[in-house]
This record gives sequence, C-alpha cells and structure tokens, in this order.
Amino acid sequence: MTEIPEHLLNRSKARRAEAPSDASGDSAPSSTPAVATPATPAKATEAPAPKPVVPDPPYVVAAKSRKKIPFWAMAGLAMLPAWAALYLIALKPAEKVLAGPISIGATVYGSCAGCHGADGAGGAGRVLYQGEVLKTFPHIEDMLNFVYSGSQKYAAADIKTYGDPNREGGAHATLSYNGNPMPMQGEKAGGALTEAEILSVVCYTRYEKSGADPKSEEWAEEYEAWCSPESEIFLGLEAGSTSFDTIEKDFAMLAAKPGAVGTEPRASIGK
Ligand code: HEC
Repeated sequence: MTEIPEHLLNRSKARRAEAPSDASGDSAPSSTPAVATPATPAKATEAPAPKPVVPDPPYVVAAKSRKKIPFWAMAGLAMLPAWAALYLIALKPAEKVLAGPISIGATVYGSCAGCHGADGAGGAGRVLYQGEVLKTFPHIEDMLNFVYSGSQKYAAADIKTYGDPNREGGAHATLSYNGNPMPMQGEKAGGALTEAEILSVVCYTRYEKSGADPKSEEWAEEYEAWCSPESEIFLGLEAGSTSFDTIEKDFAMLAAKPGAVGTEPRASIGK
C-alpha cells in the first residue's frame, strides 16, 4: 500500500476546511454580489500557497553525492558476465574427446545395452568389454558382418561358428550362448541400423568397451582405416558413396586385406 505523505494529508484537510466558506461564498453572490467580489481575490492569493519542499531522504542524497563509476571502466565491467562464463567453462574437467564413428557409436550402443550391459559386462547377450570382443573378432570385417546379420541368419546359412576359429577358450559357436540369438542389425537383414551406424557401434565397442588402443602397433592401422574421425570408409558410408557390399572395390587400401564385409552372412576370415 502506498503511504500518503503527511503534508499531502494536511493540505487536503485544509482544503476541506475551506470548502464550506467557498459554498457560502458561491451562494452569496446571487444575493450580495458585492461580498463575492472581494472573496475571489482573497482565494486567489491563497491558491499558490508554496508547495512544501520535501527533503530528499538520506539514501537519495547519498546516491546523488557519491562518486560515479568512471565511463572508461564501463567497458571492462560490461565484460564481467562473459568473463565469468569463460571461467566456469575453464573450471570443468576436460572430458575425453570421442569424435567421429566412436562418438556416434556411443549413442547407437544404447540399443545394445539392454542385452550387453551399459558397460559391456553382458547379460542376455555376450560380454563385450575388457578385450573379449577383440579376441572373438581379430578382424573388424568379421565383426561388422556378424553384427549386421545376427545369429539366426548365420544359423540359416549353416555357419556354425563366428569370429576367430582358434579363439582363446574356444571358438564362439552360433546360438551357443544361452541359446539366445544375437538379433540382426543391418537394414537388408531386417534390422534398423544403417551401415554407418553399424560401423560406429562396432568401433565404439572395440575401442571404448574392449579397450583397443588406437595408438598401439596392433590396432593403429585398423583405427586409421575404419574408426578414426577422418576414416574415409566411415565418411563414405555416411555419404552413401560406398557400402558393405562394395567396400573392397571402393578402397584400394583394403585390397591387401582379406574379406569384404558384405551384407550376407559369410564364414569368418579367421585369425
Ligand atoms: C536381444 C538381445 C541383444 C541385443 C539387443 C544385442 N545383442 Fe549382441 N548378442 C546377443 C546374444 C544372445 C549374443 C550371442 C549370440 C550367439 O550365441 O549366437 C550376442 C552376441 C554379440 C556379439 C558377439 C560377441 C562375442 O564375443 O561372441 C557382438 C559383437 C554383439 N552381440 C554386438 C551387439 C551390438 C553392437 C548390439 C547393438 C547394436 C547388440 N549386440 C545388440 C544379444 C543381443
């Protein structure tokens, strides 16, 4: 609620007190105009009663009299929010940068996690972490073909084991794990993932979940060719200029390496 200042209340009280004399004055002129005439000038002298000067409250006085921020400091002050933002960004711990197929694969992996575990520890599906996938698939081509097709297509094509036949601990036989099938993932096989997405999620499981080191002698070549952000194969799959069926013809560097990926189940390249 707004407080009505004391001086205003007083003034209005004074006006009200005058009012009856005005009324008598107004009614007077009809009968005695001579009285009314002097009444008006008397009122006129009252009207411009000096407006009481309200002194500024102390905080206004303080605001008016204190030193102002010099104009040249304004530029610097205006930058404060931006500086604060930069400071906060700099405070965040640096995250591991996962660019290209591996970072896309991290998202695609969401559709595998239900069976293989968020960390790759397995469940309804086999273990994919701690190097296990690399033992099964020393060649990325075999893994791409298997994930594309899935167990049932392998079984239908009478392919009894997938991956390295000399795998440590024995080759992985098709439909040997809980009897559950690995569902087909590739579009032509009836799955939902594009070839670029399959390559991405395969790169992600090999390099992030199973811990292949892109800088190591063992994996550097594969990483550069298939899984680095600059991988021409990955970029070609994304752009649609190559496919699992034509990949060996499209990339001279693969001519020396055995086994096209393909979109039909096929026997493994082996070790
Ligand atoms: C419905 C459950 C299920 C889902 C979803 C699933 N998998 Fe599987 N996966 C399995 C099962 C079961 C096996 C074992 C297959 C067999 O024995 O024939 C398997 C096997 C595998 C293997 C072979 C591992 C090895 O060392 O033998 C890989 C690689 C694999 N899955 C990758 C994936 C990827 C990548 C995805 C997501 C795009 C995925 N899986 C989604 C159930 C699943």
